[in-house]
Amino acid sequence: MTEPLLVATGLTKRFANGVLAVDDVSLTLHEGETLGVVGESGSGKSTTAKLILRLLRPDAGQVVFAGHDLARARGSELRALRARLQVVPQSPQTSLNPRMTVGDAIAFNLRAHGWRRRAIAARVAHLLDRVGVSPADAGRYPHEMSGGQVQRIALARALATDPELIVCDEAVSALDKSIQAQVLNLLAELQRETGVALLFISHDLSVVEHIADRVAVMYLGRLVEEGGADQIWTAPRHPYTRTLLSSIPSIT
Ligand SMILES: Nc1ncnc2c1ncn2[C@@H]1O[C@H](COP(=O)(O)OP(=O)(O)O)[C@@H](O)[C@H]1O
Ligand SMILES: [Mg+2]
Repeated sequence: MTEPLLVATGLTKRFANGVLAVDDVSLTLHEGETLGVVGESGSGKSTTAKLILRLLRPDAGQVVFAGHDLARARGSELRALRARLQVVPQSPQTSLNPRMTVGDAIAFNLRAHGWRRRAIAARVAHLLDRVGVSPADAGRYPHEMSGGQVQRIALARALATDPELIVCDEAVSALDKSIQAQVLNLLAELQRETGVALLFISHDLSVVEHIADRVAVMYLGRLVEEGGADQIWTAPRHPYTRTLLSSIPSIT
């Protein structure tokens, strides 16, 4: 068995207001795998994502990505790791800079990781095409695009550096059901093509069901259950997981 791609151990975060948002959470993710993280709003999913992405500093715990302790990484090592660990944020309104064209948003990520100017335009066009957005739209601004298109572009930006892991935090939650399905299908297809691993976070189990190999269930900052996606659907152990499942209309 190869080394896991991501090993988060004992992550804990208490905010200044006293809220214990994440309480001793440990997660492991292997190459090419999709781990779904579900839980109701406020259960600590986004805080966990931020701790993993090093956007927040944990009070305790450790994140090892591709064998590197993220908290200790500096300079060029950190930059290289950031290229390999990307994010698709939640809302179409905030996932892209409103003052940057969508092409520039992708180009910005490429420049930050050392891509040459001449290679960038072709790469941007290729990525847009790959996510189903016309390369001719590269000069448009996010507010001129639909929510589904913006999330496709955020996905293109995340894929630009050929990452090994993308953290998707409610990446399709703000979209209509039919658009959600389209973006999820695209994500699954791109994953098959590139072998990228996904940490796929959603409050909506029916969304996670489509894409996850394994599922971790969060409740009040704690990870209360983890298992194969099938096991979670057919034989949930924790009462909270059963409550989550019973709230999905498609599962009877
Ligand atoms: N920056 C912050 N300062 C204080 N409390 C926060 C902050 N961010 C999140 N919280 C609180 O931490 C808990 C977990 O939030 P979050 O991780 O965003 O949950 P989720 O993503 O599952 O909805 C919530 O009670 C939330 O109000
Ligand atoms: Mg959240």
